[in-house]
Order: sequence, then structure tokens, then C-alpha cells
Amino acid sequence: MQRLSNLPDPPNSDEKWKGVQLVMRKHGQSPHALIETLHAVQHAFGYLDRDSLTYVSDALGVPLSKVYGVATFYQYFTLKKPGTHNCVVCTGTACYIKGVPKLVEALKERYGMALDEVSADGSLTLQSACCIGTCGLAPIASVDGEELGRLSAEELLDKLEEVIHGDA
Ligand code: FES
Repeated sequence: MQRLSNLPDPPNSDEKWKGVQLVMRKHGQSPHALIETLHAVQHAFGYLDRDSLTYVSDALGVPLSKVYGVATFYQYFTLKKPGTHNCVVCTGTACYIKGVPKLVEALKERYGMALDEVSADGSLTLQSACCIGTCGLAPIASVDGEELGRLSAEELLDKLEEVIHGDA
């Protein structure tokens, strides 16, 4: 008979924790379930905050320093709450040569933020990505998952204003 593990109470009453606990139980609440569990938390909440990392540490019996180490080592994991909208700029060589620095500069000027930051009002996350494989369309960025090629700074800013103000 399989023992039902006694998981500690999650940091809050959000139902999404049940899915995370399911993943931990599926892996026998073992320290080896750390990466799968962090994936589950990120999938459920979009990021890993201090409370969730502490909970995972307690539930799996893994030192918090190790949990932080794993969460910061893999690029997939993010410790910052993502913005409502997302803009990913390809910083691969072809895109760089074809004008990505101008896009980045325009973003900085308009939103006062650099790549891999979230705007103070939480409306936008800017991210960088290595070559996404469609170099013929450089420079490339995606806005909320929509890929935009041969992009000028003006077009990118217009698109972002459109999606951000579409929420208003
Ligand atoms: S360098 Fe940007 S798509 Fe290849």
C-alpha cells in the first residue's frame, strides 16, 4: 500500500496548489521531484515567488538555497511576476545586424525599461531570446505570442500600444 504523504499547507488557498501537490505526490514527495515541482508551480502561477520556493523547499525537504539555485540556474524559470503583456525580442546575430539595437533603444525610450524587465505598472514584460530560427525575417520580435518580422521600431511600439491599450 502506498503511503499518502503529509504535505505542508500551501502558502495560500489558491486551488492551483492542488495541481502542484499532485505532481509532488506523483513523485513520492522526493527531493528528486524538485525540477518537476518547480515546473508545476511556474505553469500554475507564471512565476516562482519567495513563498512558493519556501513551500517547495519544506514540502520536498530540499534546502531553500538549493531550490533557489535550481530556480535561478534554468532560464525557463522566472522569479518575477510577468506583466500582462509580453514582448520577446530576438537578439540573435542576424536580428542584431538587421536592427534589433534600434528596437531595444526605442523600447527603453518609450517604457523606461531594458530587456528582461517588467514594467512598474505590471502591464508589460520585455524579454530577449536567442535566434528563433526565422532569420530571413530579421529583425524579429513577438508580442503576446504573435511573431512580427522585418520590424521597425515604430511598428513594434504601435503594436505594443495596441495590445496594452486594448485592455483599457
Ligand atoms: S537571429 Fe533572430 S531569428 Fe535568427
